[in-house]
Amino acid sequence: MSSPIATISQIGAYDGQTVTIRGWLYNLRESGKLLFPIFRDGSGLIQGVVAKNAVAPEIFEAVKGLTQESSVIVEGKVRPDRRAPGGYELDVTAMEVLQKVADNDPYPISLKDHGVDFLMEHRHLWVRSPRQAAILRVRAEIIKAVRDFFDGRGFTLTDPPILTPAACEGTSTLFPVDYFDEQAYLTQSGQLYIEATAMALGRVYSFGPTFRAEKSKTRRHLTEFWMVEPEVAYATLDDLMTLAEEMISFVIERCLEHRRVDLQTIGRDSSKLEKIKSPFPRITYDDAVKILQEGHSAGKLENRFEWGGDFGSPDETYISSQFDKPVMVHRYPATVKAFYMEPDPVRPELALCVDVLAPEGYGEIIGGSQRMASYDLLVKRIREHQLPEEAFKWYLDLRKYGSVPHGGFGMGIERAVAWICGLEHVRETIPFARTLHRLYP
Ligand code: 4AD
Ligand code: MG
Repeated sequence: MSSPIATISQIGAYDGQTVTIRGWLYNLRESGKLLFPIFRDGSGLIQGVVAKNAVAPEIFEAVKGLTQESSVIVEGKVRPDRRAPGGYELDVTAMEVLQKVADNDPYPISLKDHGVDFLMEHRHLWVRSPRQAAILRVRAEIIKAVRDFFDGRGFTLTDPPILTPAACEGTSTLFPVDYFDEQAYLTQSGQLYIEATAMALGRVYSFGPTFRAEKSKTRRHLTEFWMVEPEVAYATLDDLMTLAEEMISFVIERCLEHRRVDLQTIGRDSSKLEKIKSPFPRITYDDAVKILQEGHSAGKLENRFEWGGDFGSPDETYISSQFDKPVMVHRYPATVKAFYMEPDPVRPELALCVDVLAPEGYGEIIGGSQRMASYDLLVKRIREHQLPEEAFKWYLDLRKYGSVPHGGFGMGIERAVAWICGLEHVRETIPFARTLHRLYP
């Protein structure tokens, strides 16, 4: 085939011309002397038309017997069609079959509905479905937007280690690794290390895989997830909230600008996303508790929430359902938060921290705080939390040599993807999800 190779998403550039498409058979409809194969090439779908009296008999027969997901190279003429989803159809003139899926061993994922367990067991194939491919494109867009956001604002990307000697987010969710003769863990967060690079470079961020050995089966939990974490020297809690709302607004705008078709494929109501523009509402933990208690009095929540506890998923869902933008809840009781958070000077029982709760019930997508700047207080906290002091010696050094107020936050990419795509569960937001009961494929 000598015609130019085209990608389906760019096919409009070849209007009226003969092109070659390299991909797979997605579906085949027959109607007497007409065949309607739908091809996919990773960038999109296009319907082909094969008329019996317009092509060589062997081409008609080859298309007629073609099985779903067989790999093919197709040549055809691009013709505009107003009814076609992509605006074009392909009048097929030639086809080469690279590998035909056997008739007696058909592609396991048919176009009818399958259960989620079956689909997750066949995730290596499920990613080919248009909806899953669209989700992965939105994920890539979100990651690119996040990086562009920080790169464009004077932040330096610094990569923290994945093998670490100590906990960052509590000792109960660590994955142990046998590190020669030492005990190591997979990182829960790059934060402690980028606090060090922030003292070197001022404004830094990290983006990488993080791990939590939570035995949690909720729709928000993965054991392996990707987190973007900015860390800023001299930042106050207010600075962090401004940074978070600007980052989220930037990411949403990019997705609406570049991934509208994908959002449509996924079935996302993008009018909900159009509303996501900074500033976002900021409420204190105390205000959030009031919202929950009023919800209980009004009979909308079963249990009465008492001040001092951490919010569970239903609490976060209820709080965020009061707003149509992400809501930033700040100043939680220090006792429910991590050891490294700076206390509020006005009410030291509170931490200078913020959780960003996404609307539509998605709950926490960002957690962040100012970090403890005082050496003595930090030593006290490390002891209270019964953390191994030896492993934190280097971290304490940051409070001995030019300590400054500073802070940052972490956004879990999968939670952001789930919200932006409007997905039920985070397992569809990453190519191969790792959860409590899934390590295959
Ligand atoms: O709130 P977390 O635990 O905060 C930290 O790790 C801080 N060290 C971040 C920082 O300040 N630099 O986690 C941050 C975010 C959460 O808001 C959530 O989006 C995501 O990481 N996350 C998870 N995502 C999927 N599965 C899990 N098990 C997650 N745990 C946290
Ligand atoms: Mg958190």
